[in-house]
Amino acid sequence: MSLLTRTEQALITYFEQAVGVGAPPRLVAAMRHAVFSGGARIRPQLCMAVATACGDDAPALTNAAAVSLELMHCASLVHDDMPAFDNADTRRGRPSVHKAHGEALALLAGDGLIVLAYRVMLLAGAQHSNRLWALMDNLTQGVGLPDGIVAGQAWECENSADLGQYQRAKTGALFVSATRAGALSCGQSPEPWAGLGAYLGEAYQVADDIRDVIADAAVLGKPVGQDALLARPSSAQALGLEGAIAHFDHLIDQAAESIPACTNRELLRQLVQREAVRLVPKDMCQGYLQAHATPLSGRANAAH
Ligand code: IPE
Ligand code: IPE
Ligand code: MG
Ligand code: MG
Repeated sequence: MSLLTRTEQALITYFEQAVGVGAPPRLVAAMRHAVFSGGARIRPQLCMAVATACGDDAPALTNAAAVSLELMHCASLVHDDMPAFDNADTRRGRPSVHKAHGEALALLAGDGLIVLAYRVMLLAGAQHSNRLWALMDNLTQGVGLPDGIVAGQAWECENSADLGQYQRAKTGALFVSATRAGALSCGQSPEPWAGLGAYLGEAYQVADDIRDVIADAAVLGKPVGQDALLARPSSAQALGLEGAIAHFDHLIDQAAESIPACTNRELLRQLVQREAVRLVPKDMCQGYLQAHATPLSGRANAAH
């Protein structure tokens, strides 16, 4: 079974189990919209891939950890799209949750998903109480303060922010939680896996910044040009497009190199490389750079 199929099956199972029976139907519909709308599921797959490398001796716990990461991610997207944040009308090629269900239910759906993530861990972790504490702690670090998603999003409310710190918190931290969770689900030390999550997570946000400039909204399934419009700190703005692409490539190399020795190291390296190609296709970058070469730089190049 592919990791994507395993993720989808686990999401359905744990979502139903943790939601239970009798919850307000419009809230549940908004939460379903947020989760079952075709995301790339990179964080849960990363968690499962690391768990596989670590022996995956408690697969139900691994699945729960993977699901809880994706639920947190989906919650962050619901809130991120709301008018108080990015005011985005589309997500994953569909209307964003507040557009489809209204702001009140979107706010509650995000809240509900955060609590659901913890509930999924508590339900599955009862069989593995010795591993549960570390997994819960790991999840809070990816999402909360001082360096998780909430902190990352809050840097947008400060007068100034360090670009790397902002990106590592709003996106990188949950990737670190994902790789660490894979090891923790197997009762193993998470530290050898933190680097992979950190490099890949930061690369992911740099890619998001690049795609915000060069990609097509129809292809991405969400608005583009938002970083400039909302004056968000962005790699493309800070480093220039070519600088951001070089930074992305370097982070991907670091991610691949940081994978510790294990039986499926080559498989993990391929996963990282596949993500790199998917996130920032080189022909898309070349096409954009050629189309946007200014006459001035063209003349300057010709003169040399
Ligand atoms: C989008 O994450 C937001 C970022 C943190 C860059 P993904 O690109 O993983 O979004 P989905 O889950 O595939 O929609
Ligand atoms: C989203 O950041 C990261 C979250 C923590 C939700 P962005 O606002 O840059 O991501 P997109 O482009 O909307 O997916
Ligand atoms: Mg945002
Ligand atoms: Mg956004």
